[in-house]
Amino acid sequence: MTTLSYTTTPDSLSQEKIAAYRQNGFVHVPGVISREEAFEFREAALAAAERLQSLSAGPVFTQNANVWREDEAMRRLTLHPNVQAVARKLAGVDLRLWHDQILIKKPQNNAATEFHQDQPYWPHADGPNPISAWIALGDVTVECGCMTFIPGSHQRTDLPMQNLGDARSLFSICPDLVWEPRVTVPLKAGDCTFHHGRCAHMATPNMTDEPRVAHIVIFMDATTRFTGVGHVVTDPLGLKAGDLLEGEMFPAVG
Ligand code: SIN
Ligand code: NI
Repeated sequence: MTTLSYTTTPDSLSQEKIAAYRQNGFVHVPGVISREEAFEFREAALAAAERLQSLSAGPVFTQNANVWREDEAMRRLTLHPNVQAVARKLAGVDLRLWHDQILIKKPQNNAATEFHQDQPYWPHADGPNPISAWIALGDVTVECGCMTFIPGSHQRTDLPMQNLGDARSLFSICPDLVWEPRVTVPLKAGDCTFHHGRCAHMATPNMTDEPRVAHIVIFMDATTRFTGVGHVVTDPLGLKAGDLLEGEMFPAVG
């Protein structure tokens, strides 16, 4: 791997960044891939989203999941050694890939992704350290749909699923969180935010004339087991509740 062109590598990732991730449940990491790569992958992501069947396509975003299985260029991004190694170092535990997804907010989409935690959407047991790399494929300002986080909310591991299409959902389930400060993180192309699967987050609407393109690579503890609850990724696999999520669908990191 050539690491010279990356602003952040596992070796240059500071202890402050690691501590901030563990304390807040998210962190901004600049230049995890290069700016040039980000724009190349942006074109690949737009083409893949056009070609492949989308999982959902509403006003909030168009979602294509597990594209690494279908598209050679996106496979290189999902399995990108620097993204994987930085995620591993932040999480501090052995990881496997859960799934990836391209999330595109159309120009002028006028719809936020409302506050939610990711982990309640997943059929995961015994995996306390899920971590998502949200990779900016293009400059992602507040105006075009960057992420906002509630620091420390990853400690709330007891909440049921929240509806990312409903601005009141998280706060009706957990009214305390409405009083917590929020941190909004614009990203330059090639930057990432990494967030814990229980860190509450939202993304602003895209008010620009260009699509907002993000690729999210989601990792889980290597110890994660299947709960038996239905999910688009696991439904075709014939798993039983209690099975480890392992094998070629869930490649180990590092
Ligand atoms: C978004 O990018 O719109 C939302 C990402 C997420 O919910 O993880
Ligand atoms: Ni999310």
